Amino acid sequence: MLDSNGSNTTAAAAIAQLGAEVPLLGKRAVILAGTGPVGQRAAVMLAKAGAQVVMTSRSLARASAACQAMNARFDLALQPAEASDPTTTAACLAEAQIVITTGAAGLELLPLALWADHPTLEVVLDANATPPLGISGIKIQDRGTLRHGKRCYGALGFGGLKLELQRTCVAQLFEANDRVFDAPEVFALACELVQRR
Ligand SMILES: NC(=O)c1ccc[n+]([C@@H]2O[C@H](COP(=O)([O-])OP(=O)(O)OC[C@H]3O[C@@H](n4cnc5c(N)ncnc54)[C@H](OP(=O)(O)O)[C@@H]3O)[C@@H](O)[C@H]2O)c1
Repeated sequence: MLDSNGSNTTAAAAIAQLGAEVPLLGKRAVILAGTGPVGQRAAVMLAKAGAQVVMTSRSLARASAACQAMNARFDLALQPAEASDPTTTAACLAEAQIVITTGAAGLELLPLALWADHPTLEVVLDANATPPLGISGIKIQDRGTLRHGKRCYGALGFGGLKLELQRTCVAQLFEANDRVFDAPEVFALACELVQRR
């Protein structure tokens, strides 16, 4: 089972939870600070679920390198973009329906003013469980909570699924000697678990 620093189970739980409650096909999804382990995995999972994914970084070069690596490995079309301040972040969010923040712990990336009145955003989701949260104006326990007309998810909103997923992966490792859990297998299991709830 590969789950360095919880990256596979965190990304898989977030996107499986989201996908069970919100149609992802054809949606434009922006992953702010998506170059880390959680963001890259969430980007791939969203794209596999049919979303058009933009992955941002403070540096366009870093976003491009991460997108190229994921696109080559998984045959996807992730788009890189720079989001280094409120102006560039707002530009990335144009026409987006979903925004996900996967920045380093304790980092606010999305101020309320950039999402509360946004004309196309439907969903905001934050992976950061260390205050201040990555998205201002949401609560860490939010699980599809409507705020300003958008569905909001905080890190603990899918934290229960993440823990269940970790435990289930570990338990299944004892069921057969040839089981392997990397991101695709962890995501498939997360989707199964969320459907059973
Ligand atoms: N609930 C859980 O069990 C769990 C498990 C794992 C992770 N998490 C949370 O998920 C989030 C993502 O985790 P991760 O390990 O993927 O994150 P990470 O690698 O620490 O950081 C992700 C990205 O944040 C950006 N960043 C770093 N410092 C920044 C700064 N000062 N200003 C703006 N952007 C900055 C970097 O992107 P650029 O340099 O490209 O801009 C980096 O690639 C974290 O908040 C983490 O706490 C939760």
